[in-house]
Amino acid sequence: MFSSLLAASLLSVVLSASAFPEYRSLAGLSAAEVRAVARTFQATPGAQPVPPPINDTSSKLVFDDAHPFQPDAPGDIRGPCPGLNTLASHGYINRSGVVTPGEIITAVQEGFNMGWDLATFVTYGAFVVDGNHLTNLMSIGQKTTETGPDAPAPAIIGGLNTHGAFEGDASTTRDDFALGSNFLFNETLFDQLSQAAIDFGSNGTLDIPSAAVHRHNRILDSIARNPNFTFVTPRYLTAYAETTFPLAFFVTNQTSDTSLTLGLDVARSFFQTHKFPDNFYRRNGSYGLAEVGDLVVEVFEPFPVLPGNNEGVGNYVVDPEDPGLVGDGTCYAYYRQSNLTVALYPDPTDELRAAIAQNLANFYSGLGDPTCEQVFPFGQ
Ligand code: HEM
Ligand SMILES: *[C@@H]1O[C@H](CO)[C@@H](O)[C@H](O)[C@H]1NC(C)=O
Ligand SMILES: *[C@@H]1O[C@H](CO)[C@@H](O)[C@H](O)[C@H]1NC(C)=O
Ligand SMILES: *[C@@H]1O[C@H](CO)[C@@H](O)[C@H](O)[C@H]1NC(C)=O
Ligand SMILES: *[C@@H]1O[C@H](CO)[C@@H](O)[C@H](O)[C@H]1NC(C)=O
Ligand SMILES: *[C@@H]1O[C@H](CO)[C@@H](O)[C@H](O)[C@H]1NC(C)=O
Ligand SMILES: *[C@@H]1O[C@H](CO)[C@@H](O)[C@H](O)[C@H]1NC(C)=O
Ligand SMILES: *[C@@H]1O[C@H](CO)[C@@H](O)[C@H](O)[C@H]1NC(C)=O
Ligand SMILES: *[C@@H]1O[C@H](CO)[C@@H](O)[C@H](O)[C@H]1NC(C)=O
Repeated sequence: MFSSLLAASLLSVVLSASAFPEYRSLAGLSAAEVRAVARTFQATPGAQPVPPPINDTSSKLVFDDAHPFQPDAPGDIRGPCPGLNTLASHGYINRSGVVTPGEIITAVQEGFNMGWDLATFVTYGAFVVDGNHLTNLMSIGQKTTETGPDAPAPAIIGGLNTHGAFEGDASTTRDDFALGSNFLFNETLFDQLSQAAIDFGSNGTLDIPSAAVHRHNRILDSIARNPNFTFVTPRYLTAYAETTFPLAFFVTNQTSDTSLTLGLDVARSFFQTHKFPDNFYRRNGSYGLAEVGDLVVEVFEPFPVLPGNNEGVGNYVVDPEDPGLVGDGTCYAYYRQSNLTVALYPDPTDELRAAIAQNLANFYSGLGDPTCEQVFPFGQ
């Protein structure tokens, strides 16, 4: 039953390539145009090993002289993630916004003290569906030829803006794809976050209980207005995780237990301007899968919503197969992204097949010590 549902949903991803006009592959270009793009990408390094964990996870000044803020230059790409946008605007990752997964994994550790396991899990969970396996490049926002020649459709290689591959609905300050921009900062939504902090937070600052209120409000809003609201793993997990991130990562000198709360001006600096506040110190101690698991429970418990999707506005139907937070959700996310990768790359050639296999293995390594078996749909 479930596998046929999934097949239908994968098929709809594949068929809705026309619903992604901005994410067309190079298939529409003439042979000469494809060669012109390809010439600039002589090097196809393929997949690379995951960079190592950083050893010193103490707090330190990260808005330092080596990492000045620069507003986006023309052509620089930013996307739905304020964490990555900020790292790009400070040069922790390429300011162009076209980056390697290894660059992301090193930068989120260095700049924010994200734990290596969480960094690897999230980065490769996105890269396998949104990145270019042959050039090892991914856009942190819109689709771009800067990631190199595309594999044939149904591969999308659309960057993090691509809706439904990794990015999804009910975001903190970005609209649902079906309702507006799924990657631009939205003032109305930020005002709603601020109101939750004022009404339920800690003396006008955001804390976990008020962030949980906003998470719930965003879900209710999507149920009420988005006929296509989709809230299943992996988006389900990343939605709860992203609610904890402002508390875990955007508070200067945060301690490992998020005892400090987030001022709304500082929140705006990250969400809208993609800028560290002056004298910003990264948190003390890393925040990885174990830590995010603990805090996510605090977000979920006051307003539990199970994974599911709308079948028309106001009609939210729970997906009984999706374990969500109650069960081994990270394994399920790994299987789900593996299956989507297979749907996007039904018949890759040798070099591409090897790169995808390596990137899926990199993804699996981010699970830490999982109870689930590794899968090898592209060989070992
Ligand atoms: C490790 C690699 C990371 C990747 C690949 C990534 C990717 C993304 C993506 C695709 C979204 C959009 C989610 C959606 O709308 O469906 C997102 C949202 C978000 N990310 Fe990241 N992210 C990463 C790390 C981080 C870090 C280190 C932080 C904090 C320092 C962060 C903070 C956030 C927040 C707060 C949101 C919610 C944005 C909003 O809707 O207002 N992320 N991320
Ligand atoms: C961390 O320390 C180990 C052991 O000393 C070393 O092998 C590794 O390269 C270090 N990692 C980084 C990022 O420097
Ligand atoms: C950053 O990206 C630009 C354009 O995509 C590229 O020319 C440059 O070599 C990159 N820099 C590094 C250090 O990778
Ligand atoms: C919802 O999805 C269906 C099928 O993909 C599509 O035809 C429809 O236009 C979408 N509606 C919205 C509001 O995005
Ligand atoms: C921001 O989001 C709200 C709520 O979804 C929407 O009504 C509004 O049109 C969005 N604003 C912009 C500028 O997209
Ligand atoms: C609450 O915030 C106000 C204004 O930001 C500040 O003056 C006051 O000291 C704060 N109170 C506490 C208990 O932190
Ligand atoms: C962070 O803590 C360090 C010492 O641990 C201190 O020197 C620095 O001023 C603090 N920074 C901020 C912005 O509070
Ligand atoms: C930072 O974390 C370390 C290790 O958990 C701890 O020993 C130290 O006291 C912490 N420092 C601060 C300023 O909280
Ligand atoms: C992935 O695909 C396999 C093979 O079709 C299927 O048995 C499994 O249920 C799928 N898993 C998920 C989580 O979608």
